[in-house]
Amino acid sequence: MTHQKRLNVAVFASGSGSNFQSIVDQMQAGKLPINMKLLICDRPQAQVVDRARSANVPVFLFRPQEYASREAYEQVILKKLHEHEVELVVLAGYMRLLTHVLVDAYAGRIINIHPSLLPAFPGLDGIGQALEYGVKVTGVTVHFVDGGLDSGPVIAQQPVVVSADDDAARLATRIHKAEHELYPKVIRWIAEGRVTMTGRHVQIERE
Ligand code: GRF
Repeated sequence: MTHQKRLNVAVFASGSGSNFQSIVDQMQAGKLPINMKLLICDRPQAQVVDRARSANVPVFLFRPQEYASREAYEQVILKKLHEHEVELVVLAGYMRLLTHVLVDAYAGRIINIHPSLLPAFPGLDGIGQALEYGVKVTGVTVHFVDGGLDSGPVIAQQPVVVSADDDAARLATRIHKAEHELYPKVIRWIAEGRVTMTGRHVQIERE
């Protein structure tokens, strides 16, 4: 049996946390060589906080309105990340844009998941935007985070076919299923050191 070092991960989330849960589940099943060091959350009432507590994952809760600026709370978050020796930041439904404070400190080590095939339908409600536009195929993208809105280099994408009778709820169910498969897989690739980047181009060394 090979003993590889486990990657220290922090998840940032603001909402239900179903992606956080899928990552924790895979880790607990022994399928993901990571340590879930920390959940960072900006909404004390979010369901993801309960999920973290049930999984014994430390939580750092903050209220953005209590800080003078976005940079000010990110400096505090950065200190927490360093204290927990976090190596990879995983955004999973974190409803805030990052500033240069985190983007620079963790350049190439922050990833996000978005519910569309980027660069189509960035920003809020990627699922609703795809339905409204009338595309026949949409999907899920995992990408590195840069300073822009859903604009960083693409790591992996998974298509989801839109049916004629889809409404937002039905399509969202299939999108979320795709997310829960794709995100842990990409995190495993990164933990195994198989993801490299040249400019905007991301290469995955296959198993
Ligand atoms: C997901 O659809 C993700 O793509 C988007 O926010 C949603 C988070 O869902 N960035 P959850 O909180 O993980 O359930």
